[in-house]
Parts: sequence; structure tokens; C-alpha cells
Amino acid sequence: MSTNSGLRTGDAVVVTGAAQGIGKAIALDLAARGARLALWDIDAAQCAATAAACRGKVDVVHSGVDVSDREQVKAAFGAAEKAFGSIYGLVSNAGIFPRAGILESTPEMWRRVLGVNLLGTVFCAQAVCPGMISAKRGAIVNIASGRALQGTPRGAHYAASKAGIVSFTKSLALEMATHGIRANCIIPGVTETAQPLADSTLEELQALGKRIIPLGRIGQPEDLTGAVAFLLSDAAGFMTGQSIAVNGGAIMIP
Ligand SMILES: NC(=O)c1ccc[n+]([C@@H]2O[C@H](COP(=O)([O-])OP(=O)(O)OC[C@H]3O[C@@H](n4cnc5c(N)ncnc54)[C@H](O)[C@@H]3O)[C@@H](O)[C@H]2O)c1
Repeated sequence: MSTNSGLRTGDAVVVTGAAQGIGKAIALDLAARGARLALWDIDAAQCAATAAACRGKVDVVHSGVDVSDREQVKAAFGAAEKAFGSIYGLVSNAGIFPRAGILESTPEMWRRVLGVNLLGTVFCAQAVCPGMISAKRGAIVNIASGRALQGTPRGAHYAASKAGIVSFTKSLALEMATHGIRANCIIPGVTETAQPLADSTLEELQALGKRIIPLGRIGQPEDLTGAVAFLLSDAAGFMTGQSIAVNGGAIMIP
């Protein structure tokens, strides 16, 4: 099987890390496209706020979920399946990036970053795939990072977790292809959210954008939404195991 039918109005999509930033922008965009939504985030209150912003356009359920906890993921998936019957799409976006050099980073930090970013992505895929296999259709979009390809100082755990996501997505795509399920990655560049702003001022990020990004600016969360919608759609029906960089051209050396 080489293609599956893409996102249709009323299809249900899980978005993790939906409380703020890129995940919130993705949720709002998918709501505008008519998807029903299951929104998950460890920050239950802010996730409820995103759900309220989407509701009115579409049906939405939301859960406070730590994606690194497989039981919590299973429970949230059960609630989503009960609400919507079946789940067509998954956008695994939840992620953390605590800064620490390799020599300072503790085993706990490594376990937490790999647990949330990589295992969280694995657990969400494990939750949604059985239903997608039964339905013989589904699309998964995992949010990686340019650091997966380039490495980063003060974030080896993060870069390794994101490289793991790129690699996991290829294996997932291979295992699921015959079931009509596609899995791809988005590779964002520097995007104006709480994550890079924990380590740099907005002015520093904007100066970086002008200096090294060919399109002359850092990204906004809304810059990512079109590529996610594309990968969920029938237009990407012959794409699986791939990574799309959405970064203003930053992957190229100017
Ligand atoms: N902003 C960037 O420059 C950038 C660049 C490359 C990749 N990314 C990736 O994009 C994704 C979204 O990040 P963002 O920039 O919007 O950052 P953000 O910090 O604004 O949002 C991350 C969201 O994930 C949630 N989250 C954290 N741990 C969780 C857990 N254990 N379980 C469930 N939810 C959890 C947070 O509560 C938050 O709502 C992340 O995977 C991040 O690594 C961001």
C-alpha cells in the first residue's frame, strides 16, 4: 500500500504539548481546518485554555498528561477514543530543553529529556497505532529539531533525543507502511516560544535570525502549522519516513 486517505473534516487528531507555543498554534490551525482534537499537555490548565480557544469551531477534549508516563498516555488515549471513536492523526510535539553542558548534565536530566522527548513520542505512537491499524489509515507527525542534525552546545541530551525522534520515525514508518499509516517529522528552526526564550532574550534571538537565517528572521509558531497540515493531508499521501525542515533556510550555510 503506497497511499492513505488524508485528513478529512471531522477526523480526530491528538496534539501533545498543546498548552502553548508551537503545539497551541498547531491545535488552532487544525481546528480551523475542521479536525476534532484531543489536546494533551502536562500543564492541564493552559491546555484547557487552548481547548477553549479551539472549541466552537470543532469538538475538543483535553487531558493533563505527562507523555513520559505510558500509563497516563494510555488513559488519555482511552478518553480520546471514547469521545471520537477513532483517531486519524497524531502530532507529537511535547518537548523540553533544559540547558546543561555534557560534563554538568546529570543522569536524572538525561533520563528526563530522553523520557519526555523520545519516549513520550514512542508512547504516543504506541497508543494510537493499534486503532489506526484497524482503520487502515492514519498519519503521525513528530516534531524534531534542527539540533538533531547539527548538535548543540549545552544540550547534548536534547539533540540526542531529537535525533532519536528522526530515527524512530523512520522505523515507525517502515513498520506501519503496510497498514496505511504514514509517519514523518517536522524539523523546526529557532521559533519564538518559551523554549528558546528560557536561554536568550527576544532581541538576541531576533539578531540571530537577521544574522544567520537566510530568510532573515526567526520563526513564529504559526510558521510550522502549514507543514504539519500538509503531512497529515492526502497531498502527502506518498510521503513517509521523511523530515521537513521549516527554518527559514537555516539548514543551508549562507
Ligand atoms: N521553539 C523552538 O525554537 C524549537 C526549535 C526546534 C524544535 N522545537 C520543538 O517544538 C516543540 C514545541 O516546543 P515549543 O517551542 O512550542 O516550546 P514550549 O516550551 O512553548 O512548549 C512545549 C510544550 O510541551 C509541554 N510539555 C513539556 N513537558 C511535557 C510532558 N512531559 N508531557 C506533556 N507535555 C509536556 C509544555 O507544557 C509546553 O506546553 C518541542 O518538541 C520543541 O523541542 C522548538
